[in-house]
Amino acid sequence: MASPAFSGLLEAIDRGAFPRTRKLLWRMLYNMLSRRWRDDDWRFMNYGFLPSGSAFPLGQDDEADRPFIGLYAQAVDGLPLDGAHVLEIGSGRGGGARYVARYHAPASVTGIDYSPATVQLARRLNGDVANLTFEVGDSEKLPFADASIDVVVNIESSHCYGDVAAFAREVERVLAPGGWFTFADMRGKTALAQLRQQLAVPGLTLRSETDLSKGVIAALDAAELRKRTRIAKIRFMRGFVAEFAGAQGSVLYRELSEGGVVYIAQRYQKNGSAISGSSAQAMG
Ligand SMILES: C[S@@+](CC[C@H](N)C(=O)[O-])C[C@H]1O[C@@H](n2cnc3c(N)ncnc32)[C@H](O)[C@@H]1O
Repeated sequence: MASPAFSGLLEAIDRGAFPRTRKLLWRMLYNMLSRRWRDDDWRFMNYGFLPSGSAFPLGQDDEADRPFIGLYAQAVDGLPLDGAHVLEIGSGRGGGARYVARYHAPASVTGIDYSPATVQLARRLNGDVANLTFEVGDSEKLPFADASIDVVVNIESSHCYGDVAAFAREVERVLAPGGWFTFADMRGKTALAQLRQQLAVPGLTLRSETDLSKGVIAALDAAELRKRTRIAKIRFMRGFVAEFAGAQGSVLYRELSEGGVVYIAQRYQKNGSAISGSSAQAMG
């Protein structure tokens, strides 16, 4: 049975209604989640992605998080990360930034998130990784100098923003010439055109677009048991949390399966030619 609160939230996101209020409400929600659920083995808050081809390499310790890491593995695959300054915007509990810092060789990875409680948690959960830091910051007003970042990563966060075009302009500002912006998130099918418009700011060139929806459903299936076990321990707002988590039977799971919601990945490159990378994915 769908939670009416969650269905209302999805509809409001797609309509783009009340951007400032939505932004504040999301922050309250993430602050609340990070204060309430502080489990050491919970470093991701995304729906995940499992590619249909060969599995990407992972150490045994990270296997349980494979579905969630999948979104990051596809996001950075083939990008020039060696020695790069990487910024993740909307880094949540930090598992994705942790993956990039541990499985690649960047000079630095910085995660920013506008939820102070979530940043505090990310610092605690990932304090063992060198070259990885977390700061409080807003996607629409990035606390970084012009042209100071080589790769910007943004995973399943933009649906919370008040002004996605302002976010894209900020990404363009902080990226060095030739730098990469790798993005993934979901939208209702009818809101996709608007999203593409919002991200298409001057100075950024679209290099690839991929529909990830099938692999996201595969990840939701793979993570179902783990989620159900967690949800069973919750007494408060259990229906809402099951919807939020995209559990089987939720509105989100159904809409993704039926094509009403689409999960896309895009890669943009900042105009200029200081660094070069590979863009292996075909346009979807
Ligand atoms: C669904 S979670 C995804 C977290 C992480 N990317 C992951 O995949 O595990 C969305 C995150 O975006 C953050 N966020 C939402 N709006 C933001 C904004 N305007 N600026 C920075 N972070 C934001 C939230 O606080 C939350 O941690």
